[in-house]
Amino acid sequence: CGIVGYIGPKEAVSILIDGLEKLEYRGYDSAGVAVPGDDNIEVLKKEGKLGNLRENLNGHNYSANVGIGHTRWATHGRPSDENAHPHTDCTGKFAVVHNGIIENYLSLKEWLQSQGHVFKSQTDTEVLPHLIEQFYEGDLVDAVLKAVAKLEGSFAMAVVSSHEPNKLVAVRQDSPLVVGLGEGEYFLASDIPALLKHTRMTYILNDGEVAVLENDQVEVMDLSRNRIKKNVLEVNWEAGQAEKGGYDHFMLKEIYEQPKALRDTLSGRISHDSSEVTLDEVKITPEEIRGLKKIFITACGTAYHAGFVGKYVIEKLVRLPVEVDIASEFRYRQPIIEPGTLVIIISQSGETADTLAALREAKRQGARIVAVTNVVGSSVSREADDVIYTWAGPEIAVASTKAYTTQLASMYLLAMHLAAVRGTLPAEEIKEILQEMKNLAAKAQTIVDDAVEIKDFAKEISTCKDLFYLGRGLDYAVAMEGSLKLKEISYIHAEAYAAGELKHGTLALIEDNVPVVALATQQDLFDKTVSNIQEVNARGASVLALAMEGHREVEKVADKTIYIPQTHSILAPILTVIPLQLLAYHTAVARGCDVDKPRNLAKSVTVE
Ligand code: G6P
Repeated sequence: CGIVGYIGPKEAVSILIDGLEKLEYRGYDSAGVAVPGDDNIEVLKKEGKLGNLRENLNGHNYSANVGIGHTRWATHGRPSDENAHPHTDCTGKFAVVHNGIIENYLSLKEWLQSQGHVFKSQTDTEVLPHLIEQFYEGDLVDAVLKAVAKLEGSFAMAVVSSHEPNKLVAVRQDSPLVVGLGEGEYFLASDIPALLKHTRMTYILNDGEVAVLENDQVEVMDLSRNRIKKNVLEVNWEAGQAEKGGYDHFMLKEIYEQPKALRDTLSGRISHDSSEVTLDEVKITPEEIRGLKKIFITACGTAYHAGFVGKYVIEKLVRLPVEVDIASEFRYRQPIIEPGTLVIIISQSGETADTLAALREAKRQGARIVAVTNVVGSSVSREADDVIYTWAGPEIAVASTKAYTTQLASMYLLAMHLAAVRGTLPAEEIKEILQEMKNLAAKAQTIVDDAVEIKDFAKEISTCKDLFYLGRGLDYAVAMEGSLKLKEISYIHAEAYAAGELKHGTLALIEDNVPVVALATQQDLFDKTVSNIQEVNARGASVLALAMEGHREVEKVADKTIYIPQTHSILAPILTVIPLQLLAYHTAVARGCDVDKPRNLAKSVTVE
């Protein structure tokens, strides 16, 4: 989502809309603005793209000089006028725009309802204006701080109130927020592009910081109201670069966003004591889960590869047979769907024609459908019985990265839920895995932070014609995704092989200097994979190995080794894929390819 705010001598609404236009890449299913009027807050919000809101503004005359605006990417609650931001309280005196996820919103909502608050939307955000109203005793900053003290989760928010119409209060916790410092006017935005037209002087807010914008000053403080002295940061990015957060491409930005995307997708879904998974949107009952006999997973492209990981994980943890199918095959191959069949549909966009057709075919045959998708309100989400949303935020690069890792996170959540209900895992193991899932975002962060060696290997392979990716078990599933990434954006031919299958044919293709990427993260298969690496090494291949920290034996048979942080073997794919994404990215850059828009490919394929 995108947040904007303005306070100064000019007419606020048009400045807000202008700013939102620059942030539309952050979300575009609805948009809205709020300005404090003489009596109440005036709010205008509309489902759909910003253009819709703009049309609805025609004829309205706003004169306010203060306001907040928002462009939304739905998480809780489908795209609609009611769920659009800004949200207000019952008195209509407070309005809030928000990015992020309030994890404990359900309990806060219940408490507020018991205090007489009436809710109009299904969003988590709506608890914020109600909380602020509940705590308001004549000081807006105070009320916002009291509300923030009740929150769990990630948020960036901006608040206005008609009680104090010349003030804008903003808070940041785990979601970005920037203050723009103009001449006698101040701006607020979740991202730099919204500011560039007006100013390049900024305060970048840190977690736990509050900014209070007034006509003649901006004050930044911590959550205990201690003043913080901020340094002014002058931004020298061009507009296009700013949209990409300073990265050269959306794909790189999205690779680096994975720690946050993982945190958001897992947030609130694993209990504090790591003993259970809560999937609010999944209504399948324990009886139905216990009655399951078989699972199909069906999807296209990268989502299909996420399904492959899902198969290994579910079969291992839940002990149910799982078939993974390419959606365009599934729909025509007369799949055998009997009572007790669950079909998992995975789709970033939720609009892929083949995937949708597979969903409809499965439904027609009476299967129960669980969808994993990134787009709230998409066709897949509407037609499935249950939905698990990946909260990756909008993915713009055609080659999917953060959608894939969050699809994996969702598969783990579902597998753990099924395993708990069916009693296929002891409580200690459930706890061990869930605890480790909470560490994945931080571990992903360390991978993106020190991903330097990958660049050298990328340079080396950038002149190659063919490449092989090898792995066993879950490593094989990740190898498929690694090779697809390379093909999609660098146009180098690459193939993934189950390492044990190599000797049955493909080994004939290995000769001097053929590059091989070998994945060896799976503990129980480690020695066998090392033998396979030895086989290609002996035939002159140039091997880049990926292993978990501490498994140094692999260095004896590989030319280069990249280590991923130690984790539970079953969770390794989420981490292993990141160096492979970076390898594909740097190779494509070295070859001068159009990384974000590879030839012949489209982000969402809505034709058969
Ligand atoms: C297209 C994209 C792929 C994507 C696939 C499935 O082919 O180029 O990157 O994986 O569609 O998309 P979905 O939105 O259903 O996940």
